[in-house]
Amino acid sequence: MKTIQIKDKTFAVSLPEAEILKQVKRVAAEINRDLAGEEPIFLAVLNGSFIFAADLLREVTLPCEISFVKLASYEGVSSTGTIKEVIGLNCDITGRPVVIVEDIVDSGLTMVHMIETLKGHNPKSIDVCSLLVKPGNLKVNLDIKYTCLEIPNDFIVGYGLDYDGYGRNTRDIYTVVEE
Ligand code: IMP
Ligand code: MG
Repeated sequence: MKTIQIKDKTFAVSLPEAEILKQVKRVAAEINRDLAGEEPIFLAVLNGSFIFAADLLREVTLPCEISFVKLASYEGVSSTGTIKEVIGLNCDITGRPVVIVEDIVDSGLTMVHMIETLKGHNPKSIDVCSLLVKPGNLKVNLDIKYTCLEIPNDFIVGYGLDYDGYGRNTRDIYTVVEE
């Protein structure tokens, strides 16, 4: 079994690069079909989605733009705990179809909050495109139109995703090995 060590944890390959790229191509083809005739803006959520966004966009054949946003966490007075503010949205999405490019949807709270924020800018539509989804952890009612792969609730790294900042630079995706 191919394993890597990141800080105190051992990870084993769970999704090889070839399988990831196959699913990225499938999802890009769905977007090309669904948004034919449109000029979407892809909003990639940094940092985790940078590799996914690069691979996805090269499979998109529509006239399109891409912009990168960050979600800055701050402690707010909210029933859901931490509030994340969308920063870096410097393009006008009014009247445009928006596709959010996310690395992984876990509880779904991040996406729900981002969608609410984007709605305030009156886009034509908002679709979520996530590389990975952990359906077992979803805590909210969220419509994820495009999913490359569904995975169990275990913690993963690689292909852009990190463990404490490290592990983003692998081609395959790895799952933590419980010792
Ligand atoms: P949510 O708001 O719970 O859906 O959180 C989603 C965010 O949590 C993702 O954008 C990731 O940054 C992070 N995350 C969730 N699960 C993992 C994981 O298994 N590995 C790395 N990051 C993760
Ligand atoms: Mg993310």
